[in-house]
Amino acid sequence: MTSINTQNYSIHFNDNCYSALNTHLKTANYSKLFVLVDSHTHRFCLPYFLAKVETHVVIEIIEIEAGEINKTIETCDGVWSALSELDADRKSLMINLGGGIITDLGGFVASTFKRGINFINVPTTLLAMVDASIGGKTGIDLGALKNQIGLINSSEMVLVDTYFLKTLPPLEIRSGFAEMLKYGLTHSKSYWEAVIKCYETNYDKLDDLIYKSIIIKKNVVEQDPFEDNIRKVLNFGHTLGHAIESYFLSNKNKTTLLHGEAIAIGMILACYLSKEHTSFSVKDCNTIKSILKSIYGHININEKDQNTIIELLKHDKKNEGGNVNFVLLKAIGEPKINCIVENYLIKKSFNFYNQ
Ligand code: GLY
Repeated sequence: MTSINTQNYSIHFNDNCYSALNTHLKTANYSKLFVLVDSHTHRFCLPYFLAKVETHVVIEIIEIEAGEINKTIETCDGVWSALSELDADRKSLMINLGGGIITDLGGFVASTFKRGINFINVPTTLLAMVDASIGGKTGIDLGALKNQIGLINSSEMVLVDTYFLKTLPPLEIRSGFAEMLKYGLTHSKSYWEAVIKCYETNYDKLDDLIYKSIIIKKNVVEQDPFEDNIRKVLNFGHTLGHAIESYFLSNKNKTTLLHGEAIAIGMILACYLSKEHTSFSVKDCNTIKSILKSIYGHININEKDQNTIIELLKHDKKNEGGNVNFVLLKAIGEPKINCIVENYLIKKSFNFYNQ
């Protein structure tokens, strides 16, 4: 698979990853390398990764606890302190080896340590490969509110080695599929159908679809890197999805949802809102609900849950002037940004989901 060049960095695939990395390490003159891992990637990904790295530069490992609950300023504090104690300087490189939490948090820590050191993303989950590691978004949560603190800053390169997918439990793969399905719904009906087929055929042609997802995302990000406009499309399903994820994360009586599981619910709700707001077809709305529920199952969201989730919407990062801005669909592959939706319709969308 040929490398994808974006305006600021390149994305390399499978075997090409390590020749690109090793060449970069030879020429960049780094003082030290810091590999950020969590407890899972330390055990399952780091030995494989280190065996591929050829360098004389000293490599230090920094480990954080796995899980969204740890995507916090306290964890950043721990990593900044570790960097400092291990004598990181401005010529140090951070390599973020993990899923979206590692690439988001590691990118944020690197971008702010000593006013910014270089970092490379090595995504190990499907979700991070097709979304989180690409496009320069870095950040952490504020309490239960997702990604409220952060900045946009490009990595030096992204290395997508699909070998790492073998280290994942099936639910993590399913979570990543939600972002690929999002690209289908927002960009192309044929891609939506191809992703469903891939899921149903035990991930046949998954590498090709990962590649295609990354191209879709790269094309959007290059038009609007700071999300003033068209990049908002990539948040389809995320307005309510993030609020649902935050609600389940902060509520001890609820199970924690993986990001993709929450986004799948958010996409069903957004399809219903699209049907009410635009020319989006009833038939497509019903089909999408049944396909997403067949993949992700049903999560009970009662009226009390709905009220708190609607309250959480006021923290959505797309809000402007006190309005909650939704991304909706006119048709599959035809998104519409900056849609204002009234709360009674959001309630109706939950009823549609619950039916
Ligand atoms: N995950 C959406 C974006 O990067 O814009």
